[in-house]
Amino acid sequence: MTYLLALDQGTSSSRSIVFDRQGRIVAQAQQELPQIYPQPGWVEHDPRLIWQTQIDTAREVLAKAGIAASEIRSIGITNQRETTLVWNRRTGEPIHNAIVWQDRRAEPDCARLREQGWEPRVREKTGLRIDAYFSGTKLRWILDQVPGAREQAARGELAFGTVDSWLLWQLTGGRVHATDVTNASRTMLFNVHDNRWDEELLQALDIPAAMMPKVLPSSADFGTTDAGLLGHALPVGGIAGDQQAATYGQACFHEGMAKNTYGTGCFMLMHTGHRFQTSQNGLVTTSAAQIGDKPEFALEGSVFVGGAVVQWLRDGLRAIGSSGEVQGLAETVPDAGGVVLVPAFTGLGAPYWKPEARGTLTGLTRGTTMAHIARAALESIAFQSAALLLAMQRDAAAAGVAPMRELRVDGGACVNDLLMQFQADLLGIPVVRPAVVETTALGAAYLAGLSCGVFSGTGELSTLWQAERRFEPSLDRAAAEQRMQQWEHAVRQATAG
Ligand code: G3P
Repeated sequence: MTYLLALDQGTSSSRSIVFDRQGRIVAQAQQELPQIYPQPGWVEHDPRLIWQTQIDTAREVLAKAGIAASEIRSIGITNQRETTLVWNRRTGEPIHNAIVWQDRRAEPDCARLREQGWEPRVREKTGLRIDAYFSGTKLRWILDQVPGAREQAARGELAFGTVDSWLLWQLTGGRVHATDVTNASRTMLFNVHDNRWDEELLQALDIPAAMMPKVLPSSADFGTTDAGLLGHALPVGGIAGDQQAATYGQACFHEGMAKNTYGTGCFMLMHTGHRFQTSQNGLVTTSAAQIGDKPEFALEGSVFVGGAVVQWLRDGLRAIGSSGEVQGLAETVPDAGGVVLVPAFTGLGAPYWKPEARGTLTGLTRGTTMAHIARAALESIAFQSAALLLAMQRDAAAAGVAPMRELRVDGGACVNDLLMQFQADLLGIPVVRPAVVETTALGAAYLAGLSCGVFSGTGELSTLWQAERRFEPSLDRAAAEQRMQQWEHAVRQATAG
């Protein structure tokens, strides 16, 4: 039998999944990853725990699947993106905790770069906006703050990596320091047009080129694991950042195909083929997973509070005892009764980019109940995603890309039928949930399988993708537009003052 092992290192947990060659799940294992909050706005992870939890789940999943490591043809790695690590090449010791993508400590540095007029150059070269979300200014922070780090880095003694590079380094016993184009494209240091670290940006951020990993396509020979780790030396054949991996696992390989992941936040990506397209509507441009050397791109929008709004209902308002209860409560009322919730708890991300916005609840009446608020909370996830999709549609139309025909969905909250139906109603296009919703890990397994010939190409992968349920839009367009206007009105209130 042929199996593929996906290592999925996410923000809140490390997971490992074994797939068969039809893309079916054979077994999975998961461990929580502790979060470290040294001060408000800062988020860190212990690099050793990232590795330990990941390798533990890899061992556990092989045991659960009841297969020998030698039956794994290839390993694919997928990971939380932008999270920044620096370690000593000789000792393998990290010089600081990993600074997590959500961490805002580099904002003053970003403000300086913007004042110095770097925004257009960054945009043109990397597709990104200058934001503390991306790795570049997090890396500069570590070099500035850890005593002696800059000198050591200049001497070539330190290595920088996103989480994939760190795992690869560990898996190969420190023999390989590499990453893939999708992870590199989230650093604000990578020229996505020629797939190289950008000299000018490295200099602008004072980052020695000697510490950067080698960049390969997402499906490639990344090296072989140390035999002692899993009982057999295994090739690592695929790496991609989690959102690009999910796009791959959803078989969105062509221009105009899009997916939305409903996790703590929501991440929507639309493939734009080989076309580098700059958004005029608040999205970023990012590298899509690549098999060969030719760059492929996607437009991306991220919503900071997606499924997290349900946690707020549970832990903040104590409206429900567990997240699964939200649909039941929301369904006790026919609609939100005019209530709109804008969950701008940490500001608003794409397409608004309003860091100063705060959560707002509008349309309350004497008749408002917790059920209306729960319904409005669910709807807020769909409203924010619809705003992203509208931005994408506008960008696509401006570039002459064919309009999106459906939205493929995954992530924890996509099991919520009420939410998915409302999403389709707002969008006016079908929302399609696949049979395998573990699309992130699946995408990594596909990339690994392609590099060792388990799959023949994207044509075959497209035939493996199967829908579990299609949600057809049932609301008339005028009513949907009116709902969107209600939402935009509430957003204006959230961002005023
Ligand atoms: O850009 C951040 C994203 O990659 C994190 O994803 O699923 O680990 O929260 P997740």
